[in-house]
Amino acid sequence: MKILIATQKPFAPVAVSGIKEILNDAGHSVCILEKYPDEAALIAEMAEVDAMIIRSDKVTPAVLDAAPNLKLVVRAGAGYDNVDLAAATAHNVVVMNTPGQNSNAVAELAIAMMIFMARTQFTPSTGTEIQGKTIGIQAFGNVGRLVGAKAKALGMSVLAIDPFLSKDQITEGGAIPAASLEELYSSSDYVSIHIPATPQTIKSIGYDLITKMPKGATLVNTARKEVIDEEGLEKALTEREDLKYVTDVAPDNYSALREKFGTRIFATPKKMGAQTAEANINAGLAAARQIVEYFATGSTRFQVNR
Ligand code: 3PG
Repeated sequence: MKILIATQKPFAPVAVSGIKEILNDAGHSVCILEKYPDEAALIAEMAEVDAMIIRSDKVTPAVLDAAPNLKLVVRAGAGYDNVDLAAATAHNVVVMNTPGQNSNAVAELAIAMMIFMARTQFTPSTGTEIQGKTIGIQAFGNVGRLVGAKAKALGMSVLAIDPFLSKDQITEGGAIPAASLEELYSSSDYVSIHIPATPQTIKSIGYDLITKMPKGATLVNTARKEVIDEEGLEKALTEREDLKYVTDVAPDNYSALREKFGTRIFATPKKMGAQTAEANINAGLAAARQIVEYFATGSTRFQVNR
């Protein structure tokens, strides 16, 4: 089979070699499209592709239309909001993700971002410590749990909420269950967001929730920019001069916000939560193995468009 690795943001070379080795050993041919400029460049590669590995690359109806042989898309990572699932299903294309494989990298970044903000973005002004503070984790999945464990090791109290977990499951995962989202926000010096972007969650975090946070609190977003209501965020930061926002996914109006709020806001120049060699290797190799397994046995483990 012909397998395309399509990554606008490339994997580390060591991960690419590992992916190629796994696929070649199973008799598949591999082609690579990295740092491509636009959708047209991806479409131009799709004609004979049987399966593809992507990261945040967008798989649109136009991409699927250009790929008559395509059977499988594996998103090497957790979030698959970049894939048009309905269109993939209509094209009889199986879509999978590789849950958990890049979680540690994202969790480490969330912790790093908290400390970066606590230390006033590494400027000389006096900062604060995170030890003794409370972190509220919004969604206690693979990344949320790792953030919780690391925060606990750093001396923080850990609250969590997750619509898919019972209070007992949150307690077993090492956090104190919050009774409601409002309680999580009002009790946490830091809130770390780990929800996916879905029709239900898009723009779900705005003025009302953000202004519930206690004095001096920081909102940490290593999830998706779409889950923030940016107008509400701006209003909250304008009215509450003590609040801060740090994000791995720059808001649309970041330069204006940065100008207005200075070191109370920070966004990475490019999404980098999963951008470690380890995460690239874990997620990339898992994706390659899932492709081999699918063509060898028909296994649809990790399929997300059932
Ligand atoms: C994910 O959903 O797995 C992360 O957001 C990582 O995305 P990336 O592969 O584009 O860095």
